[in-house]
Amino acid sequence: MPRRQRPHPLPTPAERRRFRRHLLAWYRAHGRDLPWRDTSDPYHILVSEIMLQQTQVDRVLPKYHEWLEKYPTFEVLADAPPDEVRQTWYPLGYNIRPYRLQSIARQAVAEHGGRLPSDEETLLSFKGIGEYTVGAIRSFAFRQRAAILDTNVARVLFRVFVGRGDLKSHAMKRRLWAVSEALVPHKHVFDFNQALMDFGATQCPARKPKCLSCPMKRYCRSYPLEA
Ligand code: ADE
Repeated sequence: MPRRQRPHPLPTPAERRRFRRHLLAWYRAHGRDLPWRDTSDPYHILVSEIMLQQTQVDRVLPKYHEWLEKYPTFEVLADAPPDEVRQTWYPLGYNIRPYRLQSIARQAVAEHGGRLPSDEETLLSFKGIGEYTVGAIRSFAFRQRAAILDTNVARVLFRVFVGRGDLKSHAMKRRLWAVSEALVPHKHVFDFNQALMDFGATQCPARKPKCLSCPMKRYCRSYPLEA
C-alpha cells in the first residue's frame, strides 16, 4: 500500500543543518546588537519580549532601559502602584501589556520567590505568558532547546519550507510550530532564535523581502517574491 504523502513534510536532517548553517552565518554578518542579547536575566528577557510583542525595536530601546532602571526586579515591579506602571508604559501605547507584566511579577513573587520558573508547564500557568513567550524565555533566559513562533518567524518558515496555503490558519500554525521545533539546534539555541527574529524583521519582512541577497534562495519554496 502506498503511503499517503503528507502535505508539508518536515525538513529532513540535511535540510535542517543547511538552514541552521545559513541562518547563523547570516546572523553573524547582519544580526543587530540589541541590549536583551547581552543578558540571560529572565526578568530582562520577559520585559523585552512583552515590549516587543507589538512595538518596533527602535521604540522599545529607550523604554526598555528606563523600565529596568525604575523597576529593576520582579519585587519592585510587583509593589509599584498600578497607575504609575501604566504611566511609565504609556509611550508604548495604551494597552493591556503593563498590567500583564505586573501581574506576572506578582505571581513570580507570590509563588516562585521572585523568579521565573524554567519549565514549560509552570510558565504557561502564568496569566499573560503564552506559547511564544514560553519559547522565548526558555531559549533566551534558560538556554533550553525550545522553539519560538511569532508572526515574523511564522512568515519566514512558511516562505522557506511551505510556500503555499493559508499562513493564518490554525492547521498551518501547528505545522509551523513543528517546523520550528525540528529546526532549533541543540547548541546555539539563543543565537538561532534571535537570528530567526532578525531575519524575519530585516531580510524577509512581510513587504519587500530581499530575495536576491537571501542565503536561502536556492531552496526557498517562495523564491522569488521580489519584483
Ligand atoms: N521581536 C520579538 N522578540 C525580539 C527579539 N528578541 N529581538 C528582536 N526583535 C524581537
